[in-house]
Amino acid sequence: MTGRLDGKVAIVTGGGSMGPGWGNGKAASVLFAREGARVLVVDNRTEAAEEAAAIVAGEGGTAVAVTADVSREADVARLVADCIGRWGRVDIMHNNVGIVVPGGPEDVNLEDWARGHDVNVTSILLTCRHVLPHMKAQRAGVILNVSSIASLRWLGAPYISYNATKTAINGMTRAIAAQYGPDGIRCNSILPGLMRTPLVEGAVFKSLAGSDPDAFFAARAGVVPLRRWGDAWDVAEAALFLASDSARYITGTELVVDGGVTIQAGV
Ligand SMILES: NC(=O)c1ccc[n+]([C@@H]2O[C@H](COP(=O)([O-])OP(=O)(O)OC[C@H]3O[C@@H](n4cnc5c(N)ncnc54)[C@H](O)[C@@H]3O)[C@@H](O)[C@H]2O)c1
Repeated sequence: MTGRLDGKVAIVTGGGSMGPGWGNGKAASVLFAREGARVLVVDNRTEAAEEAAAIVAGEGGTAVAVTADVSREADVARLVADCIGRWGRVDIMHNNVGIVVPGGPEDVNLEDWARGHDVNVTSILLTCRHVLPHMKAQRAGVILNVSSIASLRWLGAPYISYNATKTAINGMTRAIAAQYGPDGIRCNSILPGLMRTPLVEGAVFKSLAGSDPDAFFAARAGVVPLRRWGDAWDVAEAALFLASDSARYITGTELVVDGGVTIQAGV
């Protein structure tokens, strides 16, 4: 099926990728464009946003790269104004940006803790604050918030900032969905599981330097009921479904995209 987002305008935050290959935001940017959307690809690294926008253009789609730090209100106001000035509307706000701050309650650095909240949580508040007036005027809009299975489960490593911020996202999603449903606006969370993206590959290769990352990836795949890591396209397909009219009666929910890993005890 094609054209599921014909005529729509999407903003994708973190629309680039941390390294070579496909991150979740980059795959969503390209997939949304393949389905007919015009896409504002937002990233705080210019080259990452431009790379994703160039892939879209190379496929004959429409995308514009914007450099912005979505934890800063002035940047968010500017990128939303850019989108409205350029295309006159915003139909899909895909809040994909997320960072991992290491540490548990005893040792997490408080500056890093604050940065984790600014990037993972406040960024969503800010994009919503600036797109909601336009979506209300349109009487339609879709907000997608990329959370994580870390909002549901302990994942075996002390990342309390990540657990806290991703859980906050689920609560914000429900609040936004309830408050703005009467305006024709839907809001849902996406909870990816073990996704083999450049972000994860970089962290694994760094922490396992000198040993065998392939063995690590194979062993982790073994704990997933579907017996494989997910990839950025698995998350992008879920985002496409929720962004499209196929999901027109779905709001305030959490779509887990994890090959079944969280349904088991001990994970
Ligand atoms: N990879 C996984 O296994 C996994 C699992 C669960 C959830 N997630 C979530 O998916 C999302 C994307 O993850 P990914 O692995 O594709 O990451 P990624 O790092 O490849 O992509 C994220 C992009 O966001 C950009 N970015 C970071 N901070 C920014 C800021 N302040 N303003 C604008 N852009 C910024 C980065 O430059 C990068 O290009 C995150 O929210 C992450 O928490 C990932």
